Amino acid sequence: MSIKETLIKKLQEKEARIAVLGLGYVGLPLAVVFGEAGLHVTGIDPDSHKVDKLNNGISYIPDVKTEAVAALVNSGNLTATTDFSILKEMDAVSICVPTPLRQTGDPDMSFIVSATDEMAKYMHKGVVVVLQSTTYPGTTREVLLPKLGTERGLTVGEDWFLAFSPERVDPGREDWTTLNTPKVMGGITEACGEVATIWYEGAIKTVYPVSSAEAAEMAKLLENTFRMINIGLVNELAIMCEHLGVDVWEVIDAAATKPFGFMKFTPGPGLGGHCIPIDPLYLSWKMKALKYNARFIDLASEINTNMPRYVVGRVLEAMNDRGKTLKGSKVLVLGVAYKPNIDDVRESPALDVIGLLQKKGAEVAYHDPYIPHIHHEYDGWKMDSVEDMMKAVKKSDAVIIVTDHKDYDYAAIVDAAKFVFDSRNALGKLAKDNPKVERL
Ligand SMILES: NC(=O)c1ccc[n+]([C@@H]2O[C@H](COP(=O)([O-])OP(=O)(O)OC[C@H]3O[C@@H](n4cnc5c(N)ncnc54)[C@H](O)[C@@H]3O)[C@@H](O)[C@H]2O)c1
Repeated sequence: MSIKETLIKKLQEKEARIAVLGLGYVGLPLAVVFGEAGLHVTGIDPDSHKVDKLNNGISYIPDVKTEAVAALVNSGNLTATTDFSILKEMDAVSICVPTPLRQTGDPDMSFIVSATDEMAKYMHKGVVVVLQSTTYPGTTREVLLPKLGTERGLTVGEDWFLAFSPERVDPGREDWTTLNTPKVMGGITEACGEVATIWYEGAIKTVYPVSSAEAAEMAKLLENTFRMINIGLVNELAIMCEHLGVDVWEVIDAAATKPFGFMKFTPGPGLGGHCIPIDPLYLSWKMKALKYNARFIDLASEINTNMPRYVVGRVLEAMNDRGKTLKGSKVLVLGVAYKPNIDDVRESPALDVIGLLQKKGAEVAYHDPYIPHIHHEYDGWKMDSVEDMMKAVKKSDAVIIVTDHKDYDYAAIVDAAKFVFDSRNALGKLAKDNPKVERL
């Protein structure tokens, strides 16, 4: 049997040893899905707290149930380690490490590079590697292929196999999960795509093969760029509607009654999360290197990045209309997670809103049922969520709804507040003709 046939047999018969590098929001659900499909999974992460928790059968990701982790740990199908040398025993490795931006806005490839360097130390024949981290088109071929194969004299597609599969997990979502969201898979060679598809098909309901790693990398960037640009469009629509004195939420709801050719996006205080504000910038960065300017991305990014400033400007004006200055006023920010009902604050526009309010001299507090503490990495400030939210609402001059968590009793908040600025339309009908409320 060839190396490829042997590996396929091991994968199909669930005898392959699987490693997941990076046990975060993407890696842990993936490790659990592989484990529940009967594969032997080892999670590898330099974060010893995560590793200890997993080995004690405890989940730290809200979408992954502790019972699921405990069952897999007890059955021996899931273990975790900080020791990368275990990679020498692995047949199949998924890489799910972070891909943030540097402070300059350029891609930070350091995690992909360090994970690849660790993998390279223990490379051997008969292994399949799938990169899942979102990145610029060409990364799998330009960064992983030389380090793992070419420089080590291993022929990709024969001695070992390499593919890219974009991650689509949407934290907090229950209908579409790692298990049932279709997975695009693109190999460096045809054989690479075939092996990786067979592996993932053993655990995930639908795998959609494409002809190359680059097509798979670009598909992910299309998905997120599509969202970013459409959010940019409705954010600008919100600004235009304010100039026109038209209710943007009514306009969007009306347009959304069209059963075809329209997709509903909603405006807000800015983009957040690890994907939508970041991934398109990986694409525009790559295109700049090819002397091409990704204009839609640049324009949407400019509009979206300015939304926290726009929101603070609207609050400032609204308070002025009420005879108040922002300087010296008590302002309570409700919700700092980047989207409702999750505990993730990465890239959240709330951080910018709070920073801008502070710069205007407001006395800012925040409440978030999911996030007890926040700190702004670059500006260096730290804050704790207020303990008694309703007490804070009552004593604040303004309340700004930045994240529309479902836990809030919005009627009680409006009732108790002196003024509410709703940047998410969390209040819906409660906002209508209410002199205490202004909406984006
Ligand atoms: N979170 C999402 O909703 C989401 C959705 C789609 C795509 N993605 C993409 O998936 C990738 C992972 O994102 P995430 O949200 O899981 O990140 P995360 O920060 O939650 O987890 C990443 C994990 O990788 C670990 N790590 C760092 N360096 C490592 C190394 N050299 N080797 C092994 N592990 C290492 C970290 O300790 C951390 O536990 C990113 O590229 C992200 O853009 C994320």
